[in-house]
Amino acid sequence: MDRADLDFANLPFAYHPTDANVRVFFREGSWSLPEVSSDQYLTLHMASVCLHYGQAIFEGLKAYERPDGQVQTFRPRENARRLRRSAQKLLMEPVPEDVFLDAVFRAVAANRRFVPPHASGAALYIRPFQIGTRAEVGVKPSADYLFMVFCTPVGPYYKAGLTPVRLRVEEQIDRAAPGGVGDTKAAGNYAAGMRATMAAKKEGYSEVLYLDARTKSFIDESGSSNFFAIQGDTFITPASPSILASITNKSVQVLARDMGLCVEERPVSVEELGSFDEAGALGTAAVITPVGSITYRGEEFTYAKEGKAGPITTALFERLVAIQTGEQEDPYGWCDVVPGT
Ligand code: PLP
Ligand code: COI
Repeated sequence: MDRADLDFANLPFAYHPTDANVRVFFREGSWSLPEVSSDQYLTLHMASVCLHYGQAIFEGLKAYERPDGQVQTFRPRENARRLRRSAQKLLMEPVPEDVFLDAVFRAVAANRRFVPPHASGAALYIRPFQIGTRAEVGVKPSADYLFMVFCTPVGPYYKAGLTPVRLRVEEQIDRAAPGGVGDTKAAGNYAAGMRATMAAKKEGYSEVLYLDARTKSFIDESGSSNFFAIQGDTFITPASPSILASITNKSVQVLARDMGLCVEERPVSVEELGSFDEAGALGTAAVITPVGSITYRGEEFTYAKEGKAGPITTALFERLVAIQTGEQEDPYGWCDVVPGT
């Protein structure tokens, strides 16, 4: 294999063009065969439902080069299921799991030369997405859909791996509400959060931490990751109807239990900020990012001593990454080798 000429160890989390993407069309009641394309652009009708009424959902997962040179993806079936759940909630045609997996594997195999070398700290980010493409002016679900997968090599979402980030609790802006679509990966959720994130960045924070929209007293999540805290030997993560069910979080809970920690998924009051020993963000892009401090109503609660991630956060990060990259054996059956790599 002739690997792409990139500085893989210093990649940003940003779009970089690759060789191919995969497209599957839902027309007249059935899904087409996958088409592999080198075109980075789409032709869309200007009245497509996705452009006006927001039938647009996506997923994010990663592929890693293992020590033996094969490429593996982390828990792709979970992403397939979550895309279907998002589709059902937005009245879109759910993509069958086998169509999803086939398109993901084809996209990775077609971009093998962009998979970062093992242990480079980078990964191939896979972005499956689905949009309603029928031209409509009245508000109603599209009859036609495009499901597509592209890949792009990325470094960590928050710079420098295990370096703690600063968060600020957001009290003015909500990204989601109970009964809304915050528990789906709907594109509009990310637009809803941009004002809050950009304002926090201007103030020197990496992200905001949203509270539940109804009472503003429980921690929900960040704009792009779930939240966890460590209290003694307990891993705590918010239960809420308005957060995205993170696959990273679900996996880390298993690792935490297997490391002998207690796991609590429950409403987490913002009043508990002072009682956490460690805190972190969880997500495909964020992996496990230690949270060094959280500012709430002008008070800064700190969780990282001397700017370093705590011992439990570090141990969870190392174990997760070792499984994802194939450095350690995967006893959970989470990783799938991509055929043809
Ligand atoms: N929460 C939000 C709002 C996200 O966008 C993401 C990213 O996918 C996550 C949480 C983390 O989910 P996962 O671990 O499945 O990537
Ligand atoms: C992910 O972690 O895959 C995300 O989707 C987060 C963000 C880049 C939107």
